[in-house]
Amino acid sequence: TPLLTTRFLGRQFIYEQELVSTNRSALELAEAGCPAGLIVVAETQSGGRGRMTRSWFSPPGRNLYFSFVLRPSIEPAMVPQLALLAALSLRRALLEQCPSWPLKCKWPNDLWADGRKISGILCEMNCRDMKTSHVVVGIGVNVNVSREELPPELRDSAGSLCQLAGRALPRADILAAILNHFESDYNQWLADGGLTAFLDEWRSASVLDNCAVKVEQNGQLHQGVARGITPEGFLRLEQADGSIRTIHAGDVHVLR
Ligand code: BTN
Repeated sequence: TPLLTTRFLGRQFIYEQELVSTNRSALELAEAGCPAGLIVVAETQSGGRGRMTRSWFSPPGRNLYFSFVLRPSIEPAMVPQLALLAALSLRRALLEQCPSWPLKCKWPNDLWADGRKISGILCEMNCRDMKTSHVVVGIGVNVNVSREELPPELRDSAGSLCQLAGRALPRADILAAILNHFESDYNQWLADGGLTAFLDEWRSASVLDNCAVKVEQNGQLHQGVARGITPEGFLRLEQADGSIRTIHAGDVHVLR
């Protein structure tokens, strides 16, 4: 059986030993008119980027760094939902490798296991005339990086699949599984025009629900208890007075 069973996602493939950032390359290709579904994969990134202007640790030969181009006809406001969708697809694809991994999604778009970050997703878009012309979904997965290979400042916060499995894992199989899952989820999401079909799954996948958290949004700090997401994919934060504040973007820290 073929690894990749998608119709369009990953059918055009660019694979490089080193790129500055697969997101950057995919954005340039999208700008130049490449077809939807094109994927850019690199063995290492010299300037891998994360959310909030952070960098993404990208050692060669160990992990997955890839970005693909989508061209959905949707309102720009719906684009952030793609990151949540991708986090769910990713989690399901990885659970196929090992159903007992304690993988959890952390709003808006991370994957965690045992208190360590395994994967991050960065969606970037370009809109013209208030219409989305293209979206790049970039995913980094720590697959085979060992704890010793992590820089000291990441050792307590980052993990990898091989640390969960106790053995090296096949990156190509994992990549194909992610693309297979994402394509069918994406089709469902487009058909429904939103996350409706995924809200139950998010509830069981989320690491934050009912946790005391603090969130930074636009430089403002909000504290409360995470109470799931809205149908639009926003975080619901229950505040001290019982009211719910919806958080559209930001960085969430669990309080202990
Ligand atoms: C985050 O958690 O802040 C998002 C990290 C996203 C990293 C991936 S690696 C492949 C793609 N290319 C990049 O430069 N970033 C994304």
